[in-house]
Amino acid sequence: APLPGLRAALLAWFDAAGRDLPWRHGKEGQREPYRVWVAEILLQQTQVVRGLQYYGRFLQAFPTVEALARAPVEDVLKAWEGCGYYARARLLHRAAQQVAASGWPSGYDGWRALPGVGPYTAAAVTSLAYGERRAVSDGNVRRVLSRLYGEARPTDAWVQARADALLDPARPGAWNEAVMDLGATVCTPRNPRCPECPLVAHCAAWAGGTPTAFPAPKVR
Ligand code: ADE
Repeated sequence: APLPGLRAALLAWFDAAGRDLPWRHGKEGQREPYRVWVAEILLQQTQVVRGLQYYGRFLQAFPTVEALARAPVEDVLKAWEGCGYYARARLLHRAAQQVAASGWPSGYDGWRALPGVGPYTAAAVTSLAYGERRAVSDGNVRRVLSRLYGEARPTDAWVQARADALLDPARPGAWNEAVMDLGATVCTPRNPRCPECPLVAHCAAWAGGTPTAFPAPKVR
């Protein structure tokens, strides 16, 4: 597919229809790392609609990384109540203490070295907060790319390679959020809204007539 046209189509859609979410406030590619980081950890286990409530509550309790770092772990776990996976909260707390002691990590590799920060979170934070050219890859991205390219059985390596190649180098953070939003609101698992999709003209699964056949169900 012609890459510039595809990128322009998705980013134009995102600029018009992207979701207004509290961790997205601030200039594109220069968001507050703490706010983005907390959101990404929270959203790993909670859907956006539910996550919004917890996010507001958590940030009110711990508005800065310093506030989080000096809080007793019991208070952190209390604020995390309802989100499940308390291990994530413990790791976030420990990582906040490292940041408070040693300063913010620089770049993707520095973020990866923090407790609880895997490839997805490091790519999300560094692209959204610093404009680093890192493509996120998760279940939503996998589905979108599987359909776009008509690849029924995408491996993790395939998804990451495609995501890396597609990423708009001029707007990496916006690109990542655009793919997330497309997967969450248009290119949904069961009833995708293909006629509304900004990528429909580029989509192999749509052209083949069976978008929901992609990706194929995992055989176990
Ligand atoms: N899910 C995970 N990260 C997200 C983000 N930054 N915006 C919307 N949904 C998300």
